[in-house]
Amino acid sequence: MIESMKLSQLISEDQIQERIKEMGEEITDKYENGDLIVLGVLKGSFMFYSDLVRAIDLDIKCDFLGVTSYVGAKSSGECKLTLDVGMSLKDQNVLIVEDIVDTGLTMNFLKQHLEKRGVKSLSTASLLFKPDALKVECSIDHVGFEIANDFVVGYGLDYQGMYRNMPYIAQVQNMN
Ligand code: IMP
Repeated sequence: MIESMKLSQLISEDQIQERIKEMGEEITDKYENGDLIVLGVLKGSFMFYSDLVRAIDLDIKCDFLGVTSYVGAKSSGECKLTLDVGMSLKDQNVLIVEDIVDTGLTMNFLKQHLEKRGVKSLSTASLLFKPDALKVECSIDHVGFEIANDFVVGYGLDYQGMYRNMPYIAQVQNMN
């Protein structure tokens, strides 16, 4: 626990799991007649991704991307790919799975990167969405929860590498 930080629960484990079930059904209905590759964005989406893919009742392929843009609690505004998708995406339906969309810069960077790979269709899912923090236009097809422009941790989301293993989402207060 970082001493200067106070955490207060914002979204409970039950609320997260219930919403993911609904999102999984939405995605299952959307792709019931086609193939789907589901791409998790590391590291933050690892927990959401693993619950979401289990809620999708289709034969899907799973792969991952890595991207960094955050330093501490602030976006650097510069996105860098740290891991690229291994499999061919040509003529495939692709779903990007993110933990949170804040400024929108990372999601737009990933969309542009993947569109260059000749995908058939590209959709996006994010557990959390902060509409008041957007710096660029960025629409998300499947949103778990819209939240205020506050820093949050837990359920995959970190502050300085910590708190990713909490099963719920907490808002951070008193940050220096
Ligand atoms: P964006 O490019 O500003 O939309 O930020 C996307 C990435 O920043 C996410 O994938 C997270 O890794 C990180 N991020 C944004 N907001 C938060 C937050 O409130 N807590 C933890 N990480 C965040």
